[in-house]
Amino acid sequence: MNMILAADRNWGIGKDNHLLVHLPGDLRFFKKMTEGGVVIVGRKTLESFPGGKPLPNREHIVITGNPSCIEPFAAQCTAAGSPEEALTLASYKDDERCFVIGGAMVYRQMLQYCDTVYVTKIDEEFPADSYFENLDRNEKFFVECESPAREENGVSYRFVKYKRKAKEKNYVEK
Ligand SMILES: NC(=O)c1ccc[n+]([C@@H]2O[C@H](COP(=O)([O-])OP(=O)(O)OC[C@H]3O[C@@H](n4cnc5c(N)ncnc54)[C@H](OP(=O)(O)O)[C@@H]3O)[C@@H](O)[C@H]2O)c1
Repeated sequence: MNMILAADRNWGIGKDNHLLVHLPGDLRFFKKMTEGGVVIVGRKTLESFPGGKPLPNREHIVITGNPSCIEPFAAQCTAAGSPEEALTLASYKDDERCFVIGGAMVYRQMLQYCDTVYVTKIDEEFPADSYFENLDRNEKFFVECESPAREENGVSYRFVKYKRKAKEKNYVEK
């Protein structure tokens, strides 16, 4: 399973149910990675999308204790009552094209199931109320590659790909 997020220097990821900063290049990267695939998303993050609607051209598995909240979006969304149910639903899909896309509560519970984490590292500090764990201090992951830094709206950021170390994988490879 894959995970994708953007974090600032303190691993802040959001404030008042919004992203910390508008970075068009990062949004393009997110779109390129997830378009045409399946995304696993928490109910609050779904509400934070433009118009409170699912993202175009992606199938959504929405984690919520209240499945009726996604009824208006039944064509694009399936409800999952837990991270584990989301994984079961996603297992019917092509794993390469499946991404956990947040928010904080969902990231926290699902990191254990992910072997690849794409982090857009923003070289700034913003006021935040939602955080990801410091992946650089997580001994189960290593940085496989990272892009050169780029700048947008006066903000510097880079794309970093983390992989789970082979011996830490939660499953046996066939
Ligand atoms: N920087 C980034 O890359 C990024 C990406 C995504 C989101 N974000 C930010 O993250 C913040 C939102 O994160 P959040 O933690 O508040 O919310 P969230 O993870 O998006 O959603 C939380 C909701 O998911 C459901 N849920 C989570 N775990 C569950 C479980 N085990 N069983 C059943 N339902 C479960 C619950 O929905 P119900 O209440 O409906 O039961 C819960 O209220 C926002 O600021 C957003 O902008 C940042």
